Amino acid sequence: MSGPKGTRLRVKALPAAAVVTATLFLTGCQPAATQPPPAGIPTASETAAASETATPETPVLRRTPDPGTTAGVSAAAPRSVHFTAQGDVGMGKDAKRVLDTIAGLKPQLSLALGDFSYQAGKEKEFCAMVAEKLGADFPYELITGNHESDGHDGDIRNFVQCLPNRLPGLKGEYGTQWYVDVPEQNPLVRIIMVSPGIKFQDGNKLDYSKNSPRWLWTAAAVDAAKAKQIPWTVVGMHTPCLSIGKYDCVAGKDLTNMLVEKKVDLVLTGHNHSYQRTHQLSLGNGCTALVPGTFSAACVKDSDASMAKGAGTVFATSGLGGAGLHPVKEDDSEIRYFATWSGQNRRAAFGTLDVTATPDRLDARFVPAEGSSFKDSFTIEKK
Ligand SMILES: [Fe+2]
Repeated sequence: MSGPKGTRLRVKALPAAAVVTATLFLTGCQPAATQPPPAGIPTASETAAASETATPETPVLRRTPDPGTTAGVSAAAPRSVHFTAQGDVGMGKDAKRVLDTIAGLKPQLSLALGDFSYQAGKEKEFCAMVAEKLGADFPYELITGNHESDGHDGDIRNFVQCLPNRLPGLKGEYGTQWYVDVPEQNPLVRIIMVSPGIKFQDGNKLDYSKNSPRWLWTAAAVDAAKAKQIPWTVVGMHTPCLSIGKYDCVAGKDLTNMLVEKKVDLVLTGHNHSYQRTHQLSLGNGCTALVPGTFSAACVKDSDASMAKGAGTVFATSGLGGAGLHPVKEDDSEIRYFATWSGQNRRAAFGTLDVTATPDRLDARFVPAEGSSFKDSFTIEKK
């Protein structure tokens, strides 16, 4: 297995001067200790208050050297951020195949979109599986699914201990509601992860209703990314809204419409154990809102695989991380929002979404694990 063990530092067309710089940087940089245990799930106000404060314990690890800004060197290689995203993993052979696929892609980080071990008491075993496949320090970045948010199939509070945040500058509560800019300096992508629609240890869902503190936190994180002129905004969560799968708008229509209104480039989810990728959607021009359970052609901004940056939002459910597949419903009223899909009953596959972002272009593709053949690809480009 040619995994990315020991290759976390992605050096693309790195000049000698930058190698020296990077070496010096790494020499002074110790692997992070695990984060301290969270003191339980915070209230919304606590989380909102924390949102603009850097987590002091956030480990500062390897940042991708930036050849494009290295003084005196022509920027032959574009700056880029490369990550994978998948949820609904489990601990079986398909989960391991998908992890092998991720390892082979050598991303800088992977977004784990919830539902990890599907078994109580197996957190360390799950983390060890990930570490064996991707390397002990690989940034396998967690947002909780419903199976661990309330602790019944493993506990998110334990998963964040054994797969801690590895990205510098992360803000918020890792595992539950956080964002990070990648790379930390001169970022290309802001990744925002939230947890609507699922129950936590107290039996309650976190409140992401319109204008709630968590809704406002999410909106502010998107707005600030735009204000900082970060080229790309990606929002991830376990639960979908638009869906042709088992679960429909669990994330809530208000939150979903807010993301579309703000033209978040890409929204990633799991929960449905399938792959479902929409066209680029936007409000305006006759589309006042996305209404779950219905289809409005006016909400489809671009229906081919080459889209314009800033024109709308693409939703991708990437729930083929290894857990047992769900069927897709091809008679679903929302199906015309979708460009392609894979499920138990159609083009069945396991695999991961693979995303590469440069300042002007975001390329995304579904990469099947060994034994699967389903593929998808789309591009969002500055035009
Ligand atoms: Fe799941």
